[in-house]
Amino acid sequence: MTLTQEIAKRKTFGIIAHPDAGKTTLTEKMLLFGGAIKTAGAVKSNKIDTATKSDWMEIEKQRGISVATSVMGFEYKGQKINLLDTPGHQDFAEDTYRTLTAVDSVIMVIDCVKGVEIQTEKLMEVCRMRNTPVICFINKLDREGRDPYDLLDEVETKLNIQVRPLSWPISMGKSFKGVYNLYDKQLNLFTPSQRKVSDDRVVIEDLSSKKLDERIGSSLADQLREDVELIEGVYPDFNPKEYLEGTVAPVFFGSAVNNFGVKEMLDTFIQIAPGPKSRQTEEREVKPDEDHFSGFIFKIHANMDPKHRNRIAFLRICSGTFQRNKPYNHVRGTKPLRFSNVTSFMAQDKEIIEEAFPGDIVGLYDTGNLKIGDSITDGENLNFKGIPSFSPEIFREVVNKDAMKTKQLEKGLQQLMEEGVAQLFTFEIGSRKVVGTVGQLQFEVIKFRLKNEYNATADFVPMNLHKACWITSNDKKKLDEFIRSKQRHIAKDRNGKLVFMAESKAWLQMVQDNFPEIEFHNTSEY
Ligand code: G4P
Repeated sequence: MTLTQEIAKRKTFGIIAHPDAGKTTLTEKMLLFGGAIKTAGAVKSNKIDTATKSDWMEIEKQRGISVATSVMGFEYKGQKINLLDTPGHQDFAEDTYRTLTAVDSVIMVIDCVKGVEIQTEKLMEVCRMRNTPVICFINKLDREGRDPYDLLDEVETKLNIQVRPLSWPISMGKSFKGVYNLYDKQLNLFTPSQRKVSDDRVVIEDLSSKKLDERIGSSLADQLREDVELIEGVYPDFNPKEYLEGTVAPVFFGSAVNNFGVKEMLDTFIQIAPGPKSRQTEEREVKPDEDHFSGFIFKIHANMDPKHRNRIAFLRICSGTFQRNKPYNHVRGTKPLRFSNVTSFMAQDKEIIEEAFPGDIVGLYDTGNLKIGDSITDGENLNFKGIPSFSPEIFREVVNKDAMKTKQLEKGLQQLMEEGVAQLFTFEIGSRKVVGTVGQLQFEVIKFRLKNEYNATADFVPMNLHKACWITSNDKKKLDEFIRSKQRHIAKDRNGKLVFMAESKAWLQMVQDNFPEIEFHNTSEY
């Protein structure tokens, strides 16, 4: 097969949701349709039980499980689909944001009882930053949820995106019968099945057919006819271009656990979702069908076993063909890297692969050379954009508790930061080190791992900081002046970029007003 053909058959997407909306269940059903797994229950949830919320060992164990399923490839109707799972727990939001840099589109799962939840809103903001096309799957229609029209309105207002239903539910709750596919204009009536993909389905091509009344009763049949007429009248025709530009979100209804509506979405997804897209680097735009290979690292997962301190780096291939054992240019590094242990993530089986193509995600065994955001190419020095750090929300100062182990502490901190566990800022004055995270949990994880893997002991002392803002200015003199006058509040991130550590929102605003020539950025990429 040619490179162009390989690219044409690939779709790489992320699945996102507020915890408990049904992401894991939906993933599993898609894998069942793809034939990648045979029975339900095979996909482990990466959500963290409330019971173990404060038990980080348990969390890491659960996270360990989720690594195996964090990328899942499967074939469906001749296409190779790469599904990237994201942690729903808000403490791991950074992980999710970075994963979203490696996908070409997103499926967002929403619970029809709860509607749009807080985490969904945040995730949508990240999608919007990059104009990522979004499909919504409104789940749990077998429960007495909110009115579908209300839900559509809520998605539009809270997520600030136009919607276009492409499937429509037939009733809801106990009498939920299935969904009508507005895109293919077809009705598949399934028998609910939690365990397998049921073949027992009736296809109704024409809504006016008497067959419909026989299957679901005249009153539901009439209701469906009415609803479909209304939707087609109210919503403009679906325009795939608007979806691809990220301005319109197609919406599907269903019940993942009962396998209702999943096939409708998947069948439409493979028709409309974008394939591997071009990517921006600092140097130029990279097109997937270029002969030369290029890709970037968006996630690193460490082995928790201190005896085997290898890590798996997740590489998204952006152009050309990736080959095992070929020496590649590690753009940030000084020497070429050759990867002999390269795994693909086909459903649950990790297997060694020889080649991979744009859109694919491969796992590279790494002994500490790679870090998040690294670019790898077959020659050219390219630096992929779009893997920013966001300002953390919780800050703590690192206090070394064992002076004999200073080196170990530094090494441990450096490696954990490279994995993206948290962010490290070093104050210009006094070299005080501050770790910033999105959630409390990371501190537990860092402490444990420092001790367990690096034999270093550190305390994390809470600091009264509101935000870390990356600062720039077109006027070098003004920037120097600013740094001088705010010296006590200036730090550097791990890449040496200048950061202003603001103590409160009000104070940050005041400083911004007083120094109009300085630009304050919420992310490390500006
Ligand atoms: P998540 O990954 O988004 O966190 O959600 P997950 O799939 O784990 O689903 C959360 C809960 O919602 C699970 O119940 C799951 O069975 C249920 N669920 C998923 N889809 C549907 C649906 O279409 N209808 C209904 N009624 N429930 C659904 P649980 O009690 O937490 O776990 P379990 O013991 O049932 O597995």
